[in-house]
Amino acid sequence: MDAPTPFSLTDRRILVTGATSGLGHAIALACARMGAEVIGAGRDEERLQRTLKELEQVSSRPHRMVRTDLTQAADRDALVASLGAPVHGVVHSAGISRLSPVRMLTQQHLQEVQAINVDAPMLLTQSLLKRNLVAPDGSIVFIASIAAHIGVAGVAAYSGTKAALIAMMRCLAMEVVKRRIRANCLSPALVETPLLDATATMVGSMEDERKNYPLGFGKPEDVANAAVFLLSDASRWITGTTIVMDGGLTIS
Ligand SMILES: NC(=O)c1ccc[n+]([C@@H]2O[C@H](COP(=O)([O-])OP(=O)(O)OC[C@H]3O[C@@H](n4cnc5c(N)ncnc54)[C@H](OP(=O)(O)O)[C@@H]3O)[C@@H](O)[C@H]2O)c1
Repeated sequence: MDAPTPFSLTDRRILVTGATSGLGHAIALACARMGAEVIGAGRDEERLQRTLKELEQVSSRPHRMVRTDLTQAADRDALVASLGAPVHGVVHSAGISRLSPVRMLTQQHLQEVQAINVDAPMLLTQSLLKRNLVAPDGSIVFIASIAAHIGVAGVAAYSGTKAALIAMMRCLAMEVVKRRIRANCLSPALVETPLLDATATMVGSMEDERKNYPLGFGKPEDVANAAVFLLSDASRWITGTTIVMDGGLTIS
């Protein structure tokens, strides 16, 4: 018999937003592989169905995918109402990146990025906590970004949302610690996902940027492994912190 591992998610229910693509998709599959039942959220019906099939190939746990526009209060309420029982972990991976130098910023740009990158994860968390739908000893993980820690031209609005997420996560961690619920952020630098492809289309090529990464760009699995760690008992003494994962980009 295999020795028990503190990284196991066996018998845990994990809610993953943005589970239809990129990091959220990799995190959903990694959680299922570690034994969890996954409730995934996204908007695109075809990707929701494809992800559900992939989850069902991993295990026979009662995985579900829920069609949800997380910027809409009614959709968030419906997602929360559909849970039926507490979750042991939440990963907020849904998010968007929009590029614009500050001198070209519009109010609409700021509001769009804020709505999905900050308001949605915080209001979803609020709704879960208000209904006691995060189990004691649960773990809440937000996907922030290296953009919250360093200055990069053209990403001010996005960087601001990720810095807000980190600041709010710390306060949340203080509020829920009495129930031994933990809250943490992951701050990845560039990871090869559709979001990066979209950025490459906007800026031309990412090849010059790749040279700044001693370990190369990240893979979705790299972030998924860190999310499994933060969701599992292996990290039970860690709360209110942010793990920077950047392939060596910011060593110096
Ligand atoms: N990739 C990177 O290099 C990188 C680096 C640092 C941080 N991040 C962060 O990591 C997170 C995931 O990024 P990614 O690279 O995985 O992006 P992605 O491949 O573009 O996936 C984004 C996900 O967010 C969902 N989503 C977007 N808007 C939504 C909305 N209004 N309601 C519900 N779901 C919504 C999408 O669902 P549908 O497609 O079904 O609509 C999709 O599942 C983001 O928060 C991003 O800021 C990414």
